[in-house]
Amino acid sequence: MRIGILTGGGDCPGLNAAIRAVVKRGTSEHGCSIVGFRNGWQGVIDGDARPLTRDDVSGILVVGGTMLGTARCHPHKVEGGMEAVRDTVLNEKLDGLICIGGDGTLKAAGKVSAATGIPVIGIPKTIDNDVVGTDAAIGFDTAVTVATEAIDRLHSTAESHNRVMVVELMGRHSGWIAVTSGMAGGADIILAPEEPFDIEVIAKKIKHRHRYKNFSIVAVAEGAIPAEGSNWTGGPTIDGKGNPIAGSIGHEVTKAIEELTGFPTRLTVLGYTQRGGIPTAADRLLGTRFGIAAIDAIVAGETGKFTALRGEKIVLEDFSVMSGKTKWVPKELLEAAWGL
Ligand code: F6P
Repeated sequence: MRIGILTGGGDCPGLNAAIRAVVKRGTSEHGCSIVGFRNGWQGVIDGDARPLTRDDVSGILVVGGTMLGTARCHPHKVEGGMEAVRDTVLNEKLDGLICIGGDGTLKAAGKVSAATGIPVIGIPKTIDNDVVGTDAAIGFDTAVTVATEAIDRLHSTAESHNRVMVVELMGRHSGWIAVTSGMAGGADIILAPEEPFDIEVIAKKIKHRHRYKNFSIVAVAEGAIPAEGSNWTGGPTIDGKGNPIAGSIGHEVTKAIEELTGFPTRLTVLGYTQRGGIPTAADRLLGTRFGIAAIDAIVAGETGKFTALRGEKIVLEDFSVMSGKTKWVPKELLEAAWGL
């Protein structure tokens, strides 16, 4: 069989582990030829393909990013995109496509399959970890590790300067990174999109804490928002695509805390450091397991499904389970984050 593979959407550490597993398992176990497409769906539209052999993936397990490159492109949103994909599938004589991506990339995979009849299997990746149907997505563990280490570092400088340190983390629509790394790093306040906040309550908590401590750490997801009805005029700045602009909510929260508490307050925006660097062991393992499951599934004739972690097991979940939904941080974890 000839199987195509692409990585779409935001990059993350662990993608290369998945590519490597698809190629190694596909060639050794199933006698497949693997075709890699550059820059996600754009590469399929452009027919920008290259053969992937075991030699090509040797040593990439520990390398961050994606050897294929990625792009935020969805064929059904591009003029003539679906026709171009269909031509590429025919020209490359593909028997199937493995698409590694988040909700957008995998939703596009479902549409391509429906339009061309080519079998597709998805592999969920996003540092945001908000893909419904899987306990974890590739990239999340590394992002949390990077963010936790940064929060650890902020403690010493906050204490030395008697400051409040605000750290803004990625997560436009969910607070998985902020809640997980905030708890792991011992942040005193954790703000996530799932729980709109009242800045006056935050300031009160910080003032109360500073009766016995001289510093605080505030972890804020870039998608965190003020509660309805709060008379605070702050909040994230929204761009033309409806996304919060990185750094905006962090800046507003920092300004407000300093004004309301009188304590010197400083902001650190972690940004793309959460998407870079070498993958943790957990992301290497998850990427490898997802890659094996995906090539096994497509060779077995499965389609319209994505690999999902369920406890210790890797299962196949239907695309319909995830499309258009966001896996939010559960209430009990939010309460635990606030509960200390
Ligand atoms: O989807 C993952 C993510 O890193 C989000 O956490 C972040 O808000 C977004 O991608 C950034 O998108 P881009 O890489 O297109 O700037």
